[in-house]
Amino acid sequence: MAETTPGAPLARAPLGEFPTPVTLAPEAAATVGARSLAFKRDDRSARPYGGNKVRKLEVLLAEARAAGATRVLTFGAAGSNHALATAVYATRLGLQPVSVLTPQVNAAYVRKNLLAQRAVGAEIHSAPDHEAAIALGDDLVRAAAERGERTYVIPFGGTTPSSTAGVATAGLELAAQVAAGMLPEPDAVYVALGSMGTAVGVALGLAMAGLPAEVRAVRVVPAAATPDDRLGTLLCESAAILAAAYPDTPPGLADRVRLRVVEGLLGEGYAHFSAEGMAAIALARETAGIALEGTYTGKTFAALIADGAAGELAEQDVVFWDTYNSHDTAALRDGADYRELPVELQAYFTGEVQPLDIVP
Ligand SMILES: Cc1ncc(COP(=O)(O)O)c(C=O)c1O
Repeated sequence: MAETTPGAPLARAPLGEFPTPVTLAPEAAATVGARSLAFKRDDRSARPYGGNKVRKLEVLLAEARAAGATRVLTFGAAGSNHALATAVYATRLGLQPVSVLTPQVNAAYVRKNLLAQRAVGAEIHSAPDHEAAIALGDDLVRAAAERGERTYVIPFGGTTPSSTAGVATAGLELAAQVAAGMLPEPDAVYVALGSMGTAVGVALGLAMAGLPAEVRAVRVVPAAATPDDRLGTLLCESAAILAAAYPDTPPGLADRVRLRVVEGLLGEGYAHFSAEGMAAIALARETAGIALEGTYTGKTFAALIADGAAGELAEQDVVFWDTYNSHDTAALRDGADYRELPVELQAYFTGEVQPLDIVP
């Protein structure tokens, strides 16, 4: 692991286009019953593949290079956006991406993400469950070491204390946009909660900037995968890294964070599209021209809509953190053939997608 020198910023490999834009959505605000609504466009954080993982990967891939790695191995569900983002940007930096993928419910985006990973040159493996994936990851790291190659391992979702600290700049970025008058100072920020790094990082950044907005982190993965004690530990460890890297970090940063986990939107489970999520996708498209999806952002926007319908947002200025890549990925998939994937993953191409899936 690369070390953080006290007083020096976190090392980063520049990948993104920052600051990401802010889009004010008055029609959507009126429809959901919020005083104002702004979208923070991390969907456009980088080309060719944006989304929330880019801020984490700037830190993680810098650590991989500092560690002398030639390979970057990560984990995810079969349709993982994180595994794809890692593959795209590891390749850009001359590192060999390796993905170890676990089963999930089928959807069109699973096919797209698998093909894109294949096309950018990722080495793709399949494992039947989380435990088996970790064991296979260990085997692959060992086998590479025997060939004289070093592997940098990134956990599911790309969340580590240092990558979470890397996301904190997003909160500072939003604060600067508020100061520049691009959006009202928010009372609340809605963001999806998966491996937790994005929500915790944004909340830390807002606290660093002295913005009192509450981060409403909408759980879209089972609670067992992201227990509250892990959230607390991640918060404290990331805050310590920030305090070491940035001397003007306010003291007691972790205690200044305002973060609430919002429950009840997961539906049948991870990546199972829900009726509320699908309705939220339609509303965002029709009133703001924003493209959300069924696994993360649709369910998160559904939470915002539910709070609006309950009258809770009438006096609130609200930000929705758009974490899903919105650049067209068709060119990324060029030339890929699903029959070159491990046989377990080929089943996503021959089987049906879930009934609620929308094929664009
Ligand atoms: C589109 C999208 N939004 C949100 C998240 C959740 O972010 P995190 O894992 O940092 O909680 C992910 C994670 O994969 C994602 O792909």
